[in-house]
Amino acid sequence: MVRPPVDLSVNVGGLALRYPTLMGSGCYGTGAEFAPFADLSRIGAIVLKSATLAPRLGNAMPRLVHTPAGLLNAIGLQNPGIDWLVEHEIAALGGMPCPIVGSAAGFSVDEYAQVCGRLDASPEISAIELNISCPNVASEGETFACDANLTASVVRAARAATRKPLIVKLSPNVTDIAAIAREAERAGADALAVVNTVRGMAIDVERWEPRLGNVAGGLSGPAIRPIAVLAVYEVARAVRIPIVGQGGIANASDALEFILAGASAVGIGTANFLDPRVPERIAVELAEYLASRNLRAISEIVGRANAGFATPEQREGDAG
Ligand SMILES: Cc1cc2nc3c(=O)[nH]c(=O)nc-3n(C[C@H](O)[C@H](O)[C@H](O)COP(=O)(O)O)c2cc1C
Repeated sequence: MVRPPVDLSVNVGGLALRYPTLMGSGCYGTGAEFAPFADLSRIGAIVLKSATLAPRLGNAMPRLVHTPAGLLNAIGLQNPGIDWLVEHEIAALGGMPCPIVGSAAGFSVDEYAQVCGRLDASPEISAIELNISCPNVASEGETFACDANLTASVVRAARAATRKPLIVKLSPNVTDIAAIAREAERAGADALAVVNTVRGMAIDVERWEPRLGNVAGGLSGPAIRPIAVLAVYEVARAVRIPIVGQGGIANASDALEFILAGASAVGIGTANFLDPRVPERIAVELAEYLASRNLRAISEIVGRANAGFATPEQREGDAG
């Protein structure tokens, strides 16, 4: 591998990565499908599709709708269940050229804890992402990520179940994401993934019915990028732990927006469906961007557009 001219390595709450690019959960499988098209040694990490305790068939079809600037999905957490996943898929990931992050989902605090426990016991798993965008059956189906108390209880339980780096993935579908982020940090999160998909809906005007079998879905892709950048900006001012920024990243300029807003690393989801080489290209272009500004490490620009940081012009002025 040709070494990048600058240091693109990052540490996400104890998860050491050679590149600041994580492949978004549900958008990269286990990496096997992408291996013929992408060099997996040149990406930061792969986040696996979220797993629950029991197998799930997912939502009724159709589950995907294209929109002008994004993808609306309602997969419904289809997965084979954590035990099957660990035994048949995760166990085969030992020789992967990049770290693998497990993703835990659930419908009760106890379910999250159990899934985290299984991932914790898997040596192939380097860190655990907590997908808290699930309804809690014990509180009339309120989504964990939309309530600070529910977030705190699920993160505490996950924290008790694992010593691996714990990345809590926040939802943008809240009024005050900074308040939720603070609770997650206080409850033991090592890092935050900001953000998951934005709720949305599309209607078939010929049939007069919702286009998704589940009616509502999650919007991803370029359409949500400004929402996600603002979320990262606000969360970065509220917590001290690292942030994995994501939502509509398709090139290095998009990734830089998140990093300058305060993200230490970025997640790439939907863009992989269009071009599996996007993550590699982003890494090359980030290195070029830094080199062209005589910067040596990506860590030097994290949060530079956030209040409290000097602009490049101010820094030049300081130096002079
Ligand atoms: C088809 C699809 C499936 C997804 N499945 C999951 C999932 O299982 N768990 C999760 O935490 N996020 C899931 N996501 C969200 C992505 O990981 C990512 O956070 C989100 O799509 C925003 O990034 P993007 O705009 O780059 O796709 C899914 C997204 C898509 C498009």
